[in-house]
Amino acid sequence: MSGSQMTALQGDITEQEVDAIVNAANSSLLGGGGVDGAIHRAAGPELLESCRTLGGCKTGDAKITPGFKLPAHHVIHTVGPVWRGGKYDEDSLLASCYRKSLGLAEEHGINSIAFPAVSTGVYGFPMDRATLLAVSEVAQFLKRPDCTIYEVRFVCFSATDLQIYERALGHGD
Ligand code: APR
Repeated sequence: MSGSQMTALQGDITEQEVDAIVNAANSSLLGGGGVDGAIHRAAGPELLESCRTLGGCKTGDAKITPGFKLPAHHVIHTVGPVWRGGKYDEDSLLASCYRKSLGLAEEHGINSIAFPAVSTGVYGFPMDRATLLAVSEVAQFLKRPDCTIYEVRFVCFSATDLQIYERALGHGD
């Protein structure tokens, strides 16, 4: 879809007013720390109840639930790879998280979506490498002629992360 846009901002993903926010979950989908913990706290206990019905999620895959108390109507839970040095398919698994999340969003008529920096916290994926993968995978997806997603936000928790995203998007210095 022409006119689709990717933007980066510093902030809290739980506050984003978009159709869907993406959660950096673990394969149990039963909550955790980091952005997973923040999303579950903000969405309320119904989110965990809904996640319990999903039967977990494989690394590189994505599943969807309502957003409950979040401003976003949906949460797309994706499970990023744990960084183990780069020789265990980490790059393709991380790319798959973005691709599957976007595909699931389209299936549900979602037009605006916010991603955290999946796998770059507890899972230790190098930020620079993850950012380049995320931006190129999303850019490729948005180029598809029948793409119905018009806004993708990369929500960075720190100013440093934002600088990395802005450079990757070609906005930074
Ligand atoms: N909003 C936006 N980004 C956030 C927020 C937030 N509220 N909280 C943390 N982040 C950022 C972190 O700074 C990091 O850049 O999200 C990115 C992902 O970090 P993690 O949340 O640690 O996720 P990840 O590295 O994918 O590890 C997933 O951590 O929380 C557990 O259950 C989760 O086991 C899973 C693992």
